[in-house]
Amino acid sequence: MNLVLLGPPGAGKGTQATRICQEFSLRHLSSGDILRAERKAMTDLGRQAQDYMDRGVLVPDDLILSMMMDHIGRPDAGSGFLLDGFPRTEVQARGLDDRLAAAGRRIDHVIDIQVSDEEVARRITGRWSCAKDGRVYHETFSPPRQAGVCDDCGEKLIRRKDDEPEVVRQRLRTYHEQTAPLASYYRQKGLLRPVDGELGADRVFAEICRICRVG
Ligand code: AP5
Repeated sequence: MNLVLLGPPGAGKGTQATRICQEFSLRHLSSGDILRAERKAMTDLGRQAQDYMDRGVLVPDDLILSMMMDHIGRPDAGSGFLLDGFPRTEVQARGLDDRLAAAGRRIDHVIDIQVSDEEVARRITGRWSCAKDGRVYHETFSPPRQAGVCDDCGEKLIRRKDDEPEVVRQRLRTYHEQTAPLASYYRQKGLLRPVDGELGADRVFAEICRICRVG
């Protein structure tokens, strides 16, 4: 099974992706996490992406498409992949479809996690992430056992640079202008599965599992 997770910044894509991938043995391919790893490693791609990410705008389609197709093309240890944060424009979605079709593969479901801008702001303000394994926490909704420390690996928790309020406002504008229109693209293909992302994380997860099991 191959999945796409759509949704605004802070919708809970990363939170749900970890759990879905464990449940269905999928490979988690997060474009944001891959870009942050490229930045940390100071690769050419990481350097090119840096300025776009810090401003809350999209990295150019050609860079993202080749980066993600490289990762998608690697062998699956499990039973498919989950794309988190990609595609984010119609150019990326069409590029993905064409390349998957050429390889005899396809997307089975596009899970659209729907959350209001007000809720996004609340969630991002309280977000902390593990610097090592990327696990996401929220200081009110899903706090770590010990403040500032990852439950899984004991690493320090950090705030993302692009979570500054002004950058979040830009990320939301970018989402509404360039990514939200993808919902109609996937609806026309019969793949869109809307989910109420304002429910608690467990209920959102249960709904996504139901969708994936019904097929
Ligand atoms: P990226 O890293 O993909 O960021 P994003 O899409 O803006 O999403 P986030 O990671 O901010 O949020 P999320 O939905 O994963 O929410 P989370 O689970 O953390 O992209 C960063 C940048 O990279 C982009 O701005 C762009 O520049 C570039 N980029 C990436 N992909 C690109 C592409 N394809 N094309 C071009 N450029 C690209 O949850 C948020 C908080 O809420 C957490 O604290 C969590 O604990 C809490 N929470 C989660 N679910 C719930 C719930 N149900 N109830 C209560 N709290 C919850």
